[in-house]
Amino acid sequence: MAMDALLVTSCLVVVAAVAAPGASAAPRAFFVFGDSLVDNGNNNYLMTTARADAPPYGIDFPTHMPTGRFSNGLNIPDIISEHLGSEPALPYLSPYLRGDKLLVGANFASAGVGILNDTGIQFVNIIRIGQQLENFQEYQQKLAAFVGEDAAAQVVNNALVLITLGGNDFVNNYYLLPFSVRSRQFAIQDYVPYLISEYRKILTRLYELGARRVVVTGTGMIGCVPAELAMHSVDGECARDLTVAADLFNPQLVRMLAGLNAEIGSDVFIAANTNRASFDFMFNPQDYGFVTSKVACCGQGPYNGIGLCTPASNVCPNRDVYAYWDAFHPTERANRIIVGQFMHGSTDHISPMNISTILAMDNSRG
Ligand SMILES: *[C@@H]1O[C@H](CO)[C@@H](O)[C@H](O)[C@H]1NC(C)=O
Ligand SMILES: *[C@@H]1O[C@H](CO)[C@@H](O)[C@H](O)[C@H]1NC(C)=O
Repeated sequence: MAMDALLVTSCLVVVAAVAAPGASAAPRAFFVFGDSLVDNGNNNYLMTTARADAPPYGIDFPTHMPTGRFSNGLNIPDIISEHLGSEPALPYLSPYLRGDKLLVGANFASAGVGILNDTGIQFVNIIRIGQQLENFQEYQQKLAAFVGEDAAAQVVNNALVLITLGGNDFVNNYYLLPFSVRSRQFAIQDYVPYLISEYRKILTRLYELGARRVVVTGTGMIGCVPAELAMHSVDGECARDLTVAADLFNPQLVRMLAGLNAEIGSDVFIAANTNRASFDFMFNPQDYGFVTSKVACCGQGPYNGIGLCTPASNVCPNRDVYAYWDAFHPTERANRIIVGQFMHGSTDHISPMNISTILAMDNSRG
């Protein structure tokens, strides 16, 4: 049945190319799902404590204003949009997401969420991944009302999709508190396969909803972020528990994606190794023009890793020489390096192929 759906999709693409030769010139739509690494403002519309809508967030954004992005400037989806030749996809909750803007795509992500429903409960109101997928369905109805059912299905099938989940299932769930409920329920060796099996259901649903090119990021080096160095590191070494967790999670994620692709019979899911991408600049920051990959630009306490980035925090004068903007999130400059590796990297960084290869392949097919 999955095969049938795929065949129908490729036929649609061919028909469209014949009927409207100019159509391939329009940038493809871009859809984003996941957590704070990719949220570009949905949480601004919610009563939640997981937010980035006060200065100094956005200090290097084109408007120099906070937008809800957890960055000094652009985040990972913004930079991917640049490569697609598009403006950033609007947050799904933005009132400006209507008419022509629907064709650019949409960003459904919400800071604080994880693979599991109970991840991030301390942030009160966040858009859990199940709801993000329901919002994607609702978006498709709006798009169909604007361009018609067939054209809407084609926009979705041709889109690039990015999903970033998993970090919070460790940081804001299993390891949130010593002896957390989860860590008493599961040994880490059993928790990771459970996460992977739940993630598989989420990705299967995304496929059912029409996604055909989905970049799935692994967790970054969650044990090495300034917050963990400040709270759990003795001597500046990465926090051990979280490093072990990421080392278990990432390879199992890659295997699960390969399994899904084999079942579907097509390279729908692309594994992006954020761990490897951040590994490069974590251990050789100078090679990338960073003075530090340990101290956050904005924050307070050791490594500027304690508490939140607020108007009262220390802020470094030059964000381009820091890998971390706040205690958990990269600077725009680090995001550019990560996206550069997704676009052009070898299979160490992204497999089975990089995004520039995907774009070239799909464009020549269309
Ligand atoms: C999370 O919630 C959704 C409905 O909101 C449900 O379908 C799903 O099974 C839940 N996941 C888990 C692991 O309980
Ligand atoms: C990745 O992309 C570049 C083009 O930017 C290409 O030359 C290269 O061969 C690709 N690498 C792999 C492993 O696909």
